[in-house]
Amino acid sequence: MIISITNLKGGVGKSTIAQNLAVCLAHRGAKVCIADTDKKQHTSIKWSGQRDENAVSVPVFGVTEGEALVKNVKALQKEYNHVIIDGTPILEELASWTILASDLVVIPTLPSPSDVWSIQEFKIRLDQIKALGTNIPAYLLINKHAANRNLDKEIDEAIREFGITIMQTKLKDRVAYKEAMLEGLGVQEYRDAKAKEEMEELTSEILEILSKL
Ligand SMILES: Nc1ncnc2c1ncn2[C@@H]1O[C@H](COP(=O)(O)OP(=O)(O)OP(=O)(O)O)[C@@H](O)[C@H]1O
Ligand SMILES: [Mg+2]
Repeated sequence: MIISITNLKGGVGKSTIAQNLAVCLAHRGAKVCIADTDKKQHTSIKWSGQRDENAVSVPVFGVTEGEALVKNVKALQKEYNHVIIDGTPILEELASWTILASDLVVIPTLPSPSDVWSIQEFKIRLDQIKALGTNIPAYLLINKHAANRNLDKEIDEAIREFGITIMQTKLKDRVAYKEAMLEGLGVQEYRDAKAKEEMEELTSEILEILSKL
């Protein structure tokens, strides 16, 4: 399956979630790779460079050309059970190709009004693609969740207006995500049990969604 972790907004956790999901799936026995579409930062390629060569294999490929993206990612899919696309915040055209290449789109967002409002931009892309007759399932994933009841309610209401389902799993703000990335690891391979648990929960939720497609 091709799962993209994408949003036009920067710094919402696209690369962190792509890496951690890939690591979790790989530990469950799947053959997984990451397609890094971020031409400028290449975060996942850098992460891969930190990764121990004896760690469970999660190859990262740079895939940065718009129109070729669909072809390149589909070619990777022949070799891997799952291709996780680490999205770029900059190029809107690339975002559309990323959506088109995907079986499932996961849109991380931070629980703040400005981040939620910016989903509008992304929703326009999704709707354009839907209008072409391709209905690709898309889910919002709350990252750096602060568990504030009032804020949660406001954010849920704002998101509901976009008509995109919110994933049940929410990822909390945990230093383990930063530390693990620095060492080329996923939190699954790190020492924070709660981070591990929530990533496992996210992985199970995503597999459940995929099983119903
Ligand atoms: N749940 C989390 N808890 C703590 N830190 C996090 C979490 N998710 C992401 N981060 C940190 O937030 C920063 C941005 O995350 P990341 O690079 O994954 O976002 P991005 O959407 O890929 O950014 P860009 O748009 O620049 O590609 C990084 O420092 C990352 O370590
Ligand atoms: Mg990134």
